[in-house]
Amino acid sequence: MDFLENQKKILIKDFETGKKINGYYKIQNINKRVKKNGEPFLTLTLMDKTGKIQAKIWDAVEYYFKLINIGEIYKINGNINEYNNKKDLKIDKLSTVSQDDKNFNSEDFIEQASFNTEKLFDEMISTIKLNLKNKYLLELTDLFIEKFKDQFKKHYGAQKIHHAYMGGLLEHTYSIIKLVIPISEQYSIDKELLLIGTLFHDIGKIYEFDIEPSINTTLKGGLIGHIVLGNNIFIELKNKINDFPEDLSTKIQHLIISHHGEKEFGSPEIPKTCEALTLNIIDLLDSKIRIFKEEIENSETKGIFSDYLPVLNRRILVSDKT
Ligand SMILES: [Fe+2]
Ligand SMILES: [Fe+2]
Repeated sequence: MDFLENQKKILIKDFETGKKINGYYKIQNINKRVKKNGEPFLTLTLMDKTGKIQAKIWDAVEYYFKLINIGEIYKINGNINEYNNKKDLKIDKLSTVSQDDKNFNSEDFIEQASFNTEKLFDEMISTIKLNLKNKYLLELTDLFIEKFKDQFKKHYGAQKIHHAYMGGLLEHTYSIIKLVIPISEQYSIDKELLLIGTLFHDIGKIYEFDIEPSINTTLKGGLIGHIVLGNNIFIELKNKINDFPEDLSTKIQHLIISHHGEKEFGSPEIPKTCEALTLNIIDLLDSKIRIFKEEIENSETKGIFSDYLPVLNRRILVSDKT
């Protein structure tokens, strides 16, 4: 019997710990690892239009590792367990699927942003333009829109951990844009410089990793990284503008290359202007707050604190039962 016959399709957002599932899911990622006893197992990321889940295969590892291709959809059944306070699927059976299977609907696997990216992008651009008077920076913003509008709306903010979803790069960038406006007014620092630096600061991520058919670091991403890639993108665009002031260009490049704050975090220079320091701190704030929020949202813990989170170097309060 087809294991899907007479059974309702279960979407990832409806997965419950302790339940069995079966359905069609797309493989976004697969890695072979080794248990302490030396035996191999597979860790996978599955997705459908409602979300993602980590999964594991413990048996017939070599067979499945050969069979599975990233970006393809498979019929899967298994059990939803809990691992590190998160849902984790143990796959019992996985088989290939043909597009004409009667339960198969390819639209179930197109990731949708959870907000209107078109509207948010237009809002972000109007906010920037409303605060810019410098004609070179206005022209640069137009070149940015022309070249990156479509990719920028869709791209993830990161491969994992924070803003790792469609529209994440836009949401992260706009969030910083909104914060740096009152900050630059409060401290009388250069708002226009800060806005342009913020718009470009993570643009290199578009070339650092692909989001289709799966999330993967590109060759350029792995060997050059988004900071230098972003700086190159800025130079390429500003070279199209006649007489772009050299000092302004240098200060914008400084914002892009120093936004990680420390050399050990990938910045070739540490922030040496008030604007660069602001971008670095607000960038960090926005990503850390998002990590907190995502942990709180996805936590399956029965206690009130998360497990130790290496990325935050602490356990955090995830449930306010006090
Ligand atoms: Fe960055
Ligand atoms: Fe960032």
